Amino acid sequence: MTDWVNPLRDKRDKRMPRIAGPCGIVIFGVTGDLSRKKLMPAIYDLANRGLLPPSFSLIGFARRDWADEDFGQVVYEAVKKHARTPFRQEVWDRLSEGFRFVQGTFDDDAAFGRLAETLEKLDAERGTGGNHVFYLSIPPNAFQQVCEQLQKSGLANPQEGRWSRVVIEKPFGHDLQSAQELNEVVNSVFPEESVFRIDHYLGKETVQNILALRFANELYEPIWNNNYVDSVQITMAEDIGLGGRGGYYDGVGAARDVIQNHLLQLLALTAMEEPVSFGPKELQIEKIKVFSATRPMQPLNETTARGQYASGWQGSEKVVGLLEEEGFSKDSKTETYAAIALEVDTRRWAGVPFFLRTGKRLGRRVTEIALIFKRAPHLPFDKTMTEELGQNALVIRVQPDEGITTRFGSKVPGSAMEVRDVNMDFSYGSAFAEDSPEAYERLILDVLLGEPSLFPVNREVELSWEILDPVLDYWAAHGKPEAYESGTWGPASADEMLHRMGREWRRP
Ligand SMILES: NC(=O)c1ccc[n+]([C@@H]2O[C@H](COP(=O)([O-])OP(=O)(O)OC[C@H]3O[C@@H](n4cnc5c(N)ncnc54)[C@H](OP(=O)(O)O)[C@@H]3O)[C@@H](O)[C@H]2O)c1
Repeated sequence: MTDWVNPLRDKRDKRMPRIAGPCGIVIFGVTGDLSRKKLMPAIYDLANRGLLPPSFSLIGFARRDWADEDFGQVVYEAVKKHARTPFRQEVWDRLSEGFRFVQGTFDDDAAFGRLAETLEKLDAERGTGGNHVFYLSIPPNAFQQVCEQLQKSGLANPQEGRWSRVVIEKPFGHDLQSAQELNEVVNSVFPEESVFRIDHYLGKETVQNILALRFANELYEPIWNNNYVDSVQITMAEDIGLGGRGGYYDGVGAARDVIQNHLLQLLALTAMEEPVSFGPKELQIEKIKVFSATRPMQPLNETTARGQYASGWQGSEKVVGLLEEEGFSKDSKTETYAAIALEVDTRRWAGVPFFLRTGKRLGRRVTEIALIFKRAPHLPFDKTMTEELGQNALVIRVQPDEGITTRFGSKVPGSAMEVRDVNMDFSYGSAFAEDSPEAYERLILDVLLGEPSLFPVNREVELSWEILDPVLDYWAAHGKPEAYESGTWGPASADEMLHRMGREWRRP
C-alpha cells in the first residue's frame, strides 16, 4: 500500500512568518561601519521578532584583540544605537549567549583554523547544525583571500545535508572584466546557489511592492507600455556629501556606486514582463531579459551627464566642495552626479527613454521611480484652461515617505473650467499599522532561509556592467565632470540633456 500524501503539505501559507532553521553567521569586518549600523542591529531585530532559531550564533572575526565579552559589548552598543525595534533584555540575554569572537587577519591560516574549531564547538554546544553563513563585510580587495581561506580551512565545504553560504556586498567589481574575475573567484569556492550578493534596495518593501502594484492589479498593467508611457525617470538623490568616505569613493563615482546596482535593478523590476511565478529562477529570467535588451542611448555626449559637487548649502549648513573634502585628491575626476538615458529594446518599451540619475549633495534625499505618461491626444478645452496641466505621472516613492503618488489634471473649483495638476497619495505610514522591516532584516533572514529571489545572480551583475561600461569608457576619455553647487539639483548639462530630448527632470 502506498502512503497517503497530503496534497496541501507543501503549500506553506506564505503569510506565516518564516523562521530560520539552526545556523550561525560569521561576520568578517565586524568592526566596520556596515556591520555596526546595519548588520548587528538587523540581527537583533530579527531575534526580537522571533525569527531566529534558539541555537542562533553570531561570530565576529576581526583583527582586534577582543574577548567574547568585548565583542558582546560592541554588538550591544550597535543594537542600542541603531536597532529598529525596542530593546528587550530577555531577547538580548538569549541572543548574546551565542556570541563568539575570533581574532585574526585574513592571511592568517591559524585564525581560520580557530574559526573552524569555534564553529564546530558551537555546532556541538548550541546545535547550530553545521549550517553557516559567511558574511564578507570587508573591502572588496579582500574577497578573494577570504574565499580562499574558507576553502582551505574546509569551511566552504559543508558536510552532507548541511550548508555553507557566502554573502558579498557591492561593489561587485568596477567594470565587466573585474566583475567576471570576481565571479570566477567566488564561484570557484562556492556554487552559485550558495552565493548571496546584497543589493539592499531589493530588500526594501517599496521595491518589492513594484511587483505587487504591477501584477496584483488590473489598473496599471494595460497602460504600462509605450502606448501610454512617454518616459521613465529613476532617481536616487542624496543630500549628504562624502566627508569621511573619500578612500572608498574616490575613483569609483556615482555611476558605479549606484546606477550599476540599485538603479538598474529598479529599472529591471519596472520594465520586466510578468514572471511565470515569483520563484527565484522565474524572476531572474525576466530580469535577465530586460538587461539583455537595455543599452545606453546614443550619442553619449548628448545622452549622459556627470557632475561633481562644489561648495554650497546642505540645509542651513555651509558645506565645502568635493575637492576640499578629506581623502580626495585636488584633481579628482570622480563624479558625484551621474545621469544616463537608456533604451529598453523590446516591443513594450520601444521609443520610451529610461532616464537614470543619482547624485550627492542634491536638494533633497529621495529615491523614486516615475512613469511619465503621454499627453492626452486631444484636449477639448481652450488653451488657457489647461496652461497648468502637466503630464500624468505615477510615482513609486521608494524612500523616504514610502508610497505611491498618482498625478493627474483636475478642475479647479470655481465658475471657470480651469484644469491643474493634483496628486493622489498612498502612503505606507498611514495605510498600514506595522512599520516596514529594514532591508537588511529581510535580506539576512532570506540568506538564513536559503531564499535567493532578492539577490542578483552573477549574470545580472555582468549584464549590468555591459550596459554601463560604454558610458564609463566614454567619460574616462572625455574631460571631467562639471561642477554643481551643493544643495541644487545637479549640473546644468543634466538639464540640457533632457531638454534636448524634449523633457524635464522632475523636482521631487
Ligand atoms: N557602509 C555601508 O553603508 C556600505 C553600503 C554598501 C556596501 N558596503 C560594502 O560593505 C563592505 C564593508 O563596508 P564598511 O563600510 O563596513 O567598511 P569599513 O568600515 O571600512 O570596514 C571594513 C572592515 O574590514 C576589516 N578589515 C579590512 N581589512 C582587513 C584585513 N586585512 N584583515 C582583517 N580585517 C580587515 C576592518 O577591520 P579593522 O577595524 O580592523 O580595520 C573593518 O572591520 C564593503 O565591501 C563595502 O563596499 C558598505
